[in-house]
Amino acid sequence: MNLIERPRRLRRTAAIRALVRETRLSPDDFVYPLFVCEGEGVRREIGSMPGAFNLSIDELVKEVEAARSAGVRSVILFGVPDRKDAAGTQAYAEDGITQRAIRALKREVKDTIVIADNCLCEYTDHGHCGLIEDGEVLNDPTLDLLAQTAVSQAEAGADIIAPSNMMDGFVVAIREALDEAGFEHIPIMSYAVKYASGFYGPFREAAQSAPQFGDRRGYQMDPANAREAMREAELDFQQGADFLMVKPALPYLDIIRAVRERFDLPVAAYQVSGEYAMIKAAARLGWIEEERVALETLTSIKRAGADIILTYFAHELAKKLW
Ligand code: PBG
Repeated sequence: MNLIERPRRLRRTAAIRALVRETRLSPDDFVYPLFVCEGEGVRREIGSMPGAFNLSIDELVKEVEAARSAGVRSVILFGVPDRKDAAGTQAYAEDGITQRAIRALKREVKDTIVIADNCLCEYTDHGHCGLIEDGEVLNDPTLDLLAQTAVSQAEAGADIIAPSNMMDGFVVAIREALDEAGFEHIPIMSYAVKYASGFYGPFREAAQSAPQFGDRRGYQMDPANAREAMREAELDFQQGADFLMVKPALPYLDIIRAVRERFDLPVAAYQVSGEYAMIKAAARLGWIEEERVALETLTSIKRAGADIILTYFAHELAKKLW
């Protein structure tokens, strides 16, 4: 019987399992995505994302403080403006909802990192991530607006700019604009590898940003492509990105691993709204254990190579980590 290898020896008790555990989650790994809307005292639950809310600025401050007490030190903000137009002007308005929210957070909760998502889709009436002409999303003219948005976010006090728009050349455009405006110290967390995914459905309800015609396949990536992901990551790396993000997370663990192995930048992965909604929905039906499954997915994302995880579970699970 000497021939039998016995890995079970290291699984016998909770303490032994903890001793040999290879991957650990910490609230420091998390970025907490939040949706900020107009008004006061607004805390409107998002139908397809139980536990996630549209928050007015006063409520946002409370939520960020509460998450901070639970150990979560980074948030990413998505603005849900009242007014939308073809050029997404509220994205780069000095008094836009996101800019005001950033100012409030920097004033009220000083040691929390405020990341500003940089895209136009929440601010355009057509719901696309850039300017439209003849049914096409224009690339270069959109870059100017994204750069303007980034500068206005940095002026409001954003600690990190996270462009999610998937226009070609967005990192260099934003980098140049930030540098020119004196924000050379502000890092760019690039959504370098962002797939055209069905998993963004609930987010689009939350941000009211569903495209009014067509879809995003003309700029976001084809889910079937892995080599192209390396090309996207390489381009952003060369253009000066400080972080590389892969999005969604769970269906793309192979991509997270590949980016981790190839690039020596911090790798972020976004557990998107649909990933969150699936877990919440199945748990509500009593078909899975919510906390256990959520932690299992987050662990797998970290095990795949992510240093940072953007997740709607950040606050809820910060105190329940393995
Ligand atoms: C904006 C943006 C989206 C998400 C993050 N930034 C939506 C989209 O591309 O349609 C999705 C996040 C999520 O689903 O949780 N472009």
